[in-house]
Amino acid sequence: MSDLEKYFRNNPGRLIHKCTHYFDIYEQYFAKYRGKQVVILEIGVYHGGSLQMWKNYFGDEARIYGIDINPECKKFEEEGIKIFTGSQSDKLFLKNVLSQVPPIDVLIDDGGHTMKQQITAFKEIFDQVKADGIYICEDLHTSYWLKYGGGYKRKGTFIEFSKNIIDQLNAHYSEQGVLKVDSLTKSIKGLHYYNGMLVIEKGEVNNFQIEKTGIPALASEHSESKLPKVLYAPAYIVVYTLNSVLRFFRLPVIMWK
Ligand SMILES: C[S@@+](CC[C@H](N)C(=O)[O-])C[C@H]1O[C@@H](n2cnc3c(N)ncnc32)[C@H](O)[C@@H]1O
Repeated sequence: MSDLEKYFRNNPGRLIHKCTHYFDIYEQYFAKYRGKQVVILEIGVYHGGSLQMWKNYFGDEARIYGIDINPECKKFEEEGIKIFTGSQSDKLFLKNVLSQVPPIDVLIDDGGHTMKQQITAFKEIFDQVKADGIYICEDLHTSYWLKYGGGYKRKGTFIEFSKNIIDQLNAHYSEQGVLKVDSLTKSIKGLHYYNGMLVIEKGEVNNFQIEKTGIPALASEHSESKLPKVLYAPAYIVVYTLNSVLRFFRLPVIMWK
């Protein structure tokens, strides 16, 4: 059992509300920060128990920040824990919070979980997470729940929003001008989807060339084409052109082989 889960199961502090399978995932990404001067910001304070858990796990050097719409949560402040009152869907409020918080190592969005809240928080806070930091959005299941603005493949859900980040992650390889390299392409190392949770790992990926090493062991590259060699080049041009048109209209590809 992970240390975080042990803490949760024997919780000596205030109430914590977490999906229990998150604990193993947290440890994968958080272990390297233990005992360091880490900056943690969690949206969604609730009874203050998770902030106490982070303090216990990361240690006395950690600076823990919380955001909650409920003004009562302010009373859960203690040494090493500061709490801001406001809504994660309020851009001005978030800007004001970020002006008072140092660059963030770990951001955990466990707030209201509506689509607008999750997307606004990401748009406003992601740049404030350090270049090698972690951004976590929890309880992605609300992207499928009507009550939260969700729905399968519904426009405007956080899940659909995050699928566009997958494209940005791979924008270096795009042959189409419409998908361009942007700040997300340059700043994200990995998107890790778990049951109910997305972990966005920041980090610059500069070394993404495709290389070959070793000694060739085949006389030629294998081709599955049954066409006579003389027809191969003209057929390739025709299929390539057709596929370009199909791609423009986002229609399925004509199989070449
Ligand atoms: C799931 S609870 C947080 C649980 C807590 N992180 C824990 O692990 O124990 C969600 C919290 O988000 C807060 N919340 C709801 N809407 C919010 C909003 N728009 N902005 C900030 N916090 C919000 C609620 O007041 C509630 O305390």
